[in-house]
Amino acid sequence: MGSGKYDFDTVIDRRGTDCEKWDDLEHAFGRKDIMPFWVADMDFRSAPEIIEALREKAEWGIFGYPTEQAERYQAAVANWERVRHGWAVEPDQVGLMPGVITGLSVAICEFTAPGDGIVIQTPVYPPFFREVRHNGRFIVENPLIETPSGYEMDFDGLRRALDQNVRALVLCSPHNPVSRVWKEGELAALGKICASRGIFVISDEIHQDLVYSDAKHFPLSLACPELDERLLTLVAPSKTFNIPGLRASAWIARDKKIASRMSLALQRMHLSGINMMGLAALEAAYTRCAPWLDEALEYLEGNRNFVESFLRDRLPRVKLKHPEGTYIFWLDFRDYGLKSPQLMDVIINKARVALNDGKSFGAQGDGFARLNVGCPRARLEECMNKIASAFSGI
Ligand SMILES: Cc1ncc(COP(=O)(O)O)c(C=O)c1O
Repeated sequence: MGSGKYDFDTVIDRRGTDCEKWDDLEHAFGRKDIMPFWVADMDFRSAPEIIEALREKAEWGIFGYPTEQAERYQAAVANWERVRHGWAVEPDQVGLMPGVITGLSVAICEFTAPGDGIVIQTPVYPPFFREVRHNGRFIVENPLIETPSGYEMDFDGLRRALDQNVRALVLCSPHNPVSRVWKEGELAALGKICASRGIFVISDEIHQDLVYSDAKHFPLSLACPELDERLLTLVAPSKTFNIPGLRASAWIARDKKIASRMSLALQRMHLSGINMMGLAALEAAYTRCAPWLDEALEYLEGNRNFVESFLRDRLPRVKLKHPEGTYIFWLDFRDYGLKSPQLMDVIINKARVALNDGKSFGAQGDGFARLNVGCPRARLEECMNKIASAFSGI
């Protein structure tokens, strides 16, 4: 710990900084005397290069309309994909937008019609349910299969699901909350099924950079190029560099028609630009911050290893499938036989920690809770100790 150039060990109290994770505890959990391990951002300061880029903008002091000539930023995104993920993306295949869920919602409206079915693979990030329903489409669930070694996609289930008037599938890759980094073969199999059935795919790859040393992320487009003519990929530096509050994200489409439709759909809603702080942060992140990310990943992998060994030694009734990526882990408390409200009562009121209720990720999440390990090791240790003592008498 602490031997690198950047500091991930210092515990920073974020209370009173208008941050959801710390300042909304009472609203979300009914009490504020608990430690937050829920909302998916990290308790680390972002890379110094990003902070410097923002300081320059702030000190300039003129906050007029940002440029609409986005090529520099599109090139930064394309170059990141090329270098970091080996995916040949051109700047004109990239567009900017203020959020991945913004992009998801706009894409649902543009590429499907009211009344269409949209497949999601549950348990999954709650806004996937919300955005589909809010936009008048219906959810077709294709639950992941739980195996002793980890979660897998259900390809037979997917073929059956596609019979239900389905127009699109939303993929979460890597997958929140089960921390799977889908293998190239798994993605190719999914892509082939969707391509052969004419299904449009929205691939949410916001967690693409948060992958541990024993896994590798494959953009869906790279794993299944034949899907490109019906594929939209959503990415962002937000999770990667801990800047989600700056609202900087991007879509990528290698198909010209999809790119131009997405671009127009965002323009119609006045959502095709990013505020000037987001632009500055996005460019700094993707052009100068890879070394920070490499160190952050090492630190997070240490946190992962710590949680796995803690559970093995001190809390063996709580199960965790080996996390391959993301800093949000899917803890399985089912051995205690508690239903979601009782489980959350112990976590919130006995352990005094704030984890996400597994049930919000779909019915399969009953008996689970999601833990955010994007924090200094010392705080994570405190959290795990609190959970262990709360469950010791149960
Ligand atoms: C899979 C996934 N997509 C999207 C988001 C949020 O994206 P944004 O804040 O850019 O809308 C999250 C945040 O946790 C996420 O896990």
